[in-house]
Amino acid sequence: MKLGKDGRRVDGKHLTYNDYINVRALVESLRLAPDVPQGVIPERWPKTPKGWKPGDAWPTGGNWCHDEALFITVHQGFELWFRQMRHELGDLFARVAASTAAHGVTQIPRAHLARRDAEQAPKLDRFPKLYPETTRFAASNASSAVRDLILHDLPAPGIFPRREDLDAGFTPCRLSWFQNDWDHLTERVERCTKMLAVCLPYYDILLHMTPAQFLAFRDRLAPASGFGSSQFRQIEFALGVRERHFAKFTPNAAWTKTLRKRFGDEVVDAAGPFRAEDSFARHCPDEEKTLAQAALGPSLRDLVYWLLTAHEFTGKADRDRFRLADRIAARNLAQLDHDNSTQNKLVSAVVTGDTYRQLGRHLAHFETVVVTALLESTDSPFGLVRFLQACLALDDGVLHWRDVHLRFVERMIGARPGTGGGGLQYLRRVVSDKAEPYRQRGFPCLWEARSVLL
Ligand code: HEM
Repeated sequence: MKLGKDGRRVDGKHLTYNDYINVRALVESLRLAPDVPQGVIPERWPKTPKGWKPGDAWPTGGNWCHDEALFITVHQGFELWFRQMRHELGDLFARVAASTAAHGVTQIPRAHLARRDAEQAPKLDRFPKLYPETTRFAASNASSAVRDLILHDLPAPGIFPRREDLDAGFTPCRLSWFQNDWDHLTERVERCTKMLAVCLPYYDILLHMTPAQFLAFRDRLAPASGFGSSQFRQIEFALGVRERHFAKFTPNAAWTKTLRKRFGDEVVDAAGPFRAEDSFARHCPDEEKTLAQAALGPSLRDLVYWLLTAHEFTGKADRDRFRLADRIAARNLAQLDHDNSTQNKLVSAVVTGDTYRQLGRHLAHFETVVVTALLESTDSPFGLVRFLQACLALDDGVLHWRDVHLRFVERMIGARPGTGGGGLQYLRRVVSDKAEPYRQRGFPCLWEARSVLL
C-alpha cells in the first residue's frame, strides 16, 4: 500500500468500522477446517461445497449441521473474552514488573504452596496456646496487636515467614513500592472477573441446542475438547494454578530441569507421571511452547503471597514470629467454640479435634494470619485490602465458571465420556474441594482467612 509523506495512505480510503474492528476476520473465523483431520472417517466430515469460502453462509445438506455454527460461535465468544483477560493480566504483570524493577527486583518469588501443603500436620509447637485447651484462652488484647501488625515498619517482634518456605533467593517487598498501583491493579483484576461473568450466559445460548442436535455432530469433534483451550490454561497459570498441569508437558531434559529448579522436586513429582493422552502435545501441540513459557511466568498467586510477606508485615526480627498468630488463632477458636456451644449443642459436639487441626493447618501459613489481621483491622492499607478482595472475587469467578460448565455438561451429555477423554468424573475432580486447595484455587490463604476471622 502506498503511503504519503505524512505516513497516511494515499488512495483516499478512510478508516471504516469494519477495518478497525477487523470484522472480516471475525466473520471468516466461522468455518470448518477444509481438510479431514487425522482419525476422522472422511465420510463423516462435511464436504466443503465448490466455491465456498469463509464468510459465506453456512453450508447445508450432507453432513453439515445448522447447530454446529452455534456451537463454534459460542466457543469463539468465550475465547475472545479469554484473550481480553490475558491482555488485562499481561498489563498487570508489566505494571508490577516496572514497580519492582525500580527497586532492583527482577522476579517475584514463586509461592510454593504444594511444598507447604505436603506438610499435612499443623506445626503445633508454633501454637502453644492452640492445643490442647483452646477454650481457656479467650484473648482480649489481640486488636492492638493486630494494629501493630499492619503498621508500617513494625518493630520486632513480628510474624516472620519461614525462609525455607520461600524461594532460596527470597526478597521481601515493601507495600510502599505499589502505593501508586493499587487502583490500576485492582481494576485489571476486576475487569477479568466481569469478563468471566459476562460469558457465563453463553452456556444458556448453547442450551438452545437439544442434546440430540448436539449429538448429530459431536462425534466428529473427538479428540478435540475445551480441555485443550490454551487460553484457559494460560489464565489458570496467571492465577497461579499450575502445579497439577506439570504432568501435561512433554518431558524433555531441559524442560524438566527448569521445572525442578524453579518449583522443586517434590512439587514436580507430586504432579504425577506424564500421561500422553492428557498432554498438551496431544491437545494443543502448537501452543505447548507458549504454555511452557506461561507456566514459568509470574502469577497473581505469587504476587499476592509476596505482598503478604512484605517488610511491613514481617518486621525485621526473626524471634517470636508466631506469637501473634497464636494469639489470634486462640482468640478465634475460643470464639468459635463459644458460638457453637451457646447456639447449637449438636454443632459443638462436631467442633472437635479435627476442626481445630484443620484451622491449625490453615494458620500454619503465615500469609493466612496476615490476611486475617488485615481484614480485622480498620487501619489496614485500603489499597491492598481492595486488591486482595478483587483477587478473591476472580478466584471465585473461575470456580463458579467451572461449576456452571460442569452442570451444563451434565445437561448436555450426562455421563458420556468427554471428547477429550475425561467426562463428568474428570470435571468433578477438578472442582472438588477434597483435593488440595492450591490445586484449583489461586489464593488459598484468602479463603482460609475467612475460617479464622472474627
Ligand atoms: C456442548 C458443549 C460442551 C460440552 C459437552 C463440554 C464437555 C466437556 C468435557 C466432558 C470436558 C472434560 C474433558 C473432556 O473429556 O473432554 C470439558 C472440559 C473443558 N471445557 Fe467443555 N464442554 C462444552 C462446552 C464448553 C465451552 C463453551 C467452553 C468454553 C470455552 C468449554 C471449556 C472447557 C474447558 C476450559 C475445559 C477444561 C477444564 C479443565 O481441565 O479444568 N467447554 N468440557
